[in-house]
Parts: sequence; structure tokens; C-alpha cells
Amino acid sequence: MHCSRDWEAMTYQTDRLTLRPIEERDVDTMLATRTIPEVVEFTYEPIWTREYAQERVARHARLSHEESPVFTRWMIELRESGTVIGDIYLNKDAELQGTTEIGYVIHPNYAGHGYATEAAREVLRIGFEEWGVHRIYARVDEDNTGSTRVCQHLGMRQEGRLIENDRRGDKWSTELVFAMLDREWKTRSE
Ligand SMILES: CC(C)(COP(=O)(O)OP(=O)(O)OC[C@H]1O[C@@H](n2cnc3c(N)ncnc32)[C@H](O)[C@@H]1OP(=O)(O)O)[C@@H](O)C(=O)NCCC(=O)NCCS
Repeated sequence: MHCSRDWEAMTYQTDRLTLRPIEERDVDTMLATRTIPEVVEFTYEPIWTREYAQERVARHARLSHEESPVFTRWMIELRESGTVIGDIYLNKDAELQGTTEIGYVIHPNYAGHGYATEAAREVLRIGFEEWGVHRIYARVDEDNTGSTRVCQHLGMRQEGRLIENDRRGDKWSTELVFAMLDREWKTRSE
């Protein structure tokens, strides 16, 4: 396995959370959220099987440790207990490189405490200040009030509304696109 990035250097701490890169042992922690219908509804995926989880987790662990960061998925842990409460990723566009998608999941048992916002704010910082990306965006189902609030808390601009452009189960869903540029991040951080 091509595994050059330092695990320690890829682990981050915020006030209440630790973000650590996904590893092959995270099959169960990923299944804990990806087998909940109201979670996968908004990630536009079917319920994960164990076999699928093993394949996805192995792939994400491999990509997350590659030398040049084009994709990293971090598991989100509570600092106090070490409990995994969700996960978050940054995914650089394969061709543009400077444009990056953010995505996150928090287990419903831990929702409503500001954890997604806290984790995503740190991942925006990593993207802009460490990866040197130009633009970070999120695609959010219009019915996903929680995730819309997270983007608003982060200060991301709503810059698009894509009408019925994806399938959510058996219905067409409308997506909102939120984004932030590196210069906007810099202004916010000053
Ligand atoms: C969306 C999600 C990430 C939010 O995580 P979280 O840790 O609860 O988020 P935060 O606590 O940082 O912020 C949530 C905000 O949304 C609000 N919210 C959460 N769920 C809500 C709901 N069902 N309806 C209305 N508001 C809701 C909260 O009140 C809070 O807003 P406030 O701070 O203004 O009060 C989490 O619910 C989740 O993982 N959902 C399923 C997967 C998903 O949708 N992922 C994102 C795909 S774009």
C-alpha cells in the first residue's frame, strides 16, 4: 500500500473533537451511520451492507493515506470519550484540483450539538490553509434543513439551486450548492 502521509500529521483536534484519518478497522463505525435510513437518505446512497462497507472503507483508507491529498475521510471522535460520532471528507476535483467538495455525517444520537459545524470548520481550515485549495463547496438536498444550517453557520454562500437534478429514493430532489473561496475564508479568519 502506498502509505506516505504521517497519521499523526493528519489527525486534528478542535475544542471538543478529534478528526483522525479513516482506517480499515472503521467498518463498524461507518456501518453505525450508513445503516440508518434517515442518514443515507441525504447521502443519496442505499443502506450499506457489510461487504460494501469493507470495500469502501478499505478504498477510503488507502486514498486518505496517499502522499498528495486528493481525498481524505476523517472519523470524528469526541475528545472526552474517544467515541466515534460521524465522519467528514474533503475530495479534490480530479481535473481542477483547486476545487474541493466537503461532506459530513453525524450519528443522529449526537445531532444538534454543533458537532458537524465544528468539524466542518476545521476541515475548511485544512482545505484552505494546508491543501491550498481555491474553492470548497457542499451539495445539500433542499429538504436537509440540518445540513443547510451547517453551511450557513460556516458562512458558505448559497450559489445555486439545482432543480430536480438527483434522485433521492423514488423522488427527484432539488439540491442547493453552497461554497466558499479561499479569499472569503481569509477575510472571515482575520
Ligand atoms: C446534517 C447533519 C450533518 C447535522 O449535524 P449536527 O451535528 O446536528 O449539526 P450542527 O449541530 O452543527 O448544526 C445543525 C443545525 O441544524 C439544525 N437542525 C438539525 N436537524 C434539523 C432538522 N431535522 N430540522 C431543522 N433543523 C435541524 C440544528 O438546530 C442546528 O441549527 P442551529 O444551530 O441554528 O440551532 C446530521 O444531521 C447528519 O449527519 N444528517 C444525515 C446525513 C447528512 O445529511 N449529511 C449531510 C449531507 S449534505
